[in-house]
Order: sequence, then structure tokens, then C-alpha cells
Amino acid sequence: MELKDAIRKRISVRGYKKDPVPENILSEILEVSLRSPSAMNVQPWEITVVTGKPLAQICQENMALLQGGKMPGADLGHAKPYEGVHKDRQRTLGFELYGLLGIARDNKEKRNEWMMTGFRSFDAPAVIIVSADESLEARLAASDIGGLIQTICLVALEYGLGTCINGQGILFPDVVRKVTGIPISQKMYICIAIGYPDWDHPANKLISARESMKTVVSWVGFEKN
Ligand SMILES: Cc1cc2nc3c(=O)[nH]c(=O)nc-3n(C[C@H](O)[C@H](O)[C@H](O)COP(=O)(O)O)c2cc1C
Repeated sequence: MELKDAIRKRISVRGYKKDPVPENILSEILEVSLRSPSAMNVQPWEITVVTGKPLAQICQENMALLQGGKMPGADLGHAKPYEGVHKDRQRTLGFELYGLLGIARDNKEKRNEWMMTGFRSFDAPAVIIVSADESLEARLAASDIGGLIQTICLVALEYGLGTCINGQGILFPDVVRKVTGIPISQKMYICIAIGYPDWDHPANKLISARESMKTVVSWVGFEKN
């Protein structure tokens, strides 16, 4: 697939077929994705790929904790709530997604049900969890890991796979640690749901908006036409 096509084609896939993803395919995707750049080439990432019964156990325990009223919390602490234009963009995403899913704004039960699918990594057959040693500065590690995860998502397209980068799947870090053995000294940054997309799923019809170049790009030192 041509690179620019892949970049335009990638979307967050939030509905998957049950078919498992063969280990050799995941391995090929990761092998090439490990060419991603990192500051000083420190390659901060530690990658844990989970499928089958262990993944089912994580999802079940996440559900039980949510149903029991336990508050989720990221390994790296709470993110500040968005404000201003960022809050607007977040809201737009929510309106569009819930619209496609046919969930009304005031339907708290259905909204909650949908929120819970994120804690099951959208029922994907596999997840890729990316962690980094606690000694590493999160600012640098996060940008390195950002490059890696986008690369994984793009390479996955070559195999007909869909992905959804998400924080929800690892918001009960103790559960993930217990099942996978990720040590406490590694901080979990992000998770990628991966599998064969169910293109009939309404959530997969979402093409999320982007700001125009005019809004986000400044040109310095170029001749005005
Ligand atoms: C760091 C990061 C965390 C994300 N966490 C979630 C998440 O927890 N749940 C979710 O549904 N999507 C999550 N996403 C997906 C974003 O919502 C999505 O990338 C954004 O809306 C743009 O849509 P697109 O990926 O379809 O282009 C996350 C994406 C990133 C990059």
C-alpha cells in the first residue's frame, strides 16, 4: 500500500471480527515497526502482546471492577480535562461517534455500555501494550512511543488489520500486571487493539474531523505569493 494512502486510510477501528490474528503476522508488524525513531535511539518501549484467555481475563476483570464502581486510573496518572478548542474537538468526536451508534445524549445506560467496550479493547482478538521503564522521562518516552504506535497502526493495514490506539484497555493497571506479568517498574503508556475490522459495525463508519492546515500550520520565512 502506498504510504500516503495508508495514512489517509487508517482510522480507529472500534468493532472487530472474532478471527484471531496469527502470531507470525503480529511478529512481522512489530519487527518492521521497531525501526521507529527514538530520542538518542534509546528505544524506550517494552511491548507486550496479549490474546486468548489472558486477554479475556483482563476484559472480564475490567468489567467486574467497573460494575463494582471502581474508578479507573492510568499508570502515569490522571490527564487534565480538556478546555477551549481541545474540549470542542473532543465533544465533536463524541457527538459523531454516538450519532453513528444511534445513542442519544441522555441515554446514560447505552453510553455507559459503549464506554465499557473500550475497557474490553473493543473486543479485539489481540492487544499490544506499550510500556517504558519508570526511570525514563515520560515527556521523551511518550513522543518516541507515539511514533512507534502510529507505525504499528500503518503497517497493520498491509495485513488487512485494523487498530485502535487506546488508553482505556489499560486503565486498571493492576489487572493487566497480574495477568501479563508487566513489572511495576514498567509504566504502561498505551495500548493498541488489533484485529480484522467488522466493517458493518457503525463505529467503523466514523471518519473523524481534522482542522485545516490554515488553523494549525504557521509558515515562517516563505515568500508570500
Ligand atoms: C494516545 C491516544 C489515546 C487514545 N485513547 C482512546 C481511547 O481510550 N478510546 C478510544 O475510543 N479511542 C482512543 N483513541 C483514538 C482517538 O480517539 C482517535 O485517534 C481520534 O479520535 C482520531 O480518530 P482516528 O484515529 O479515527 O483518525 C486514542 C488515540 C490516541 C492517539
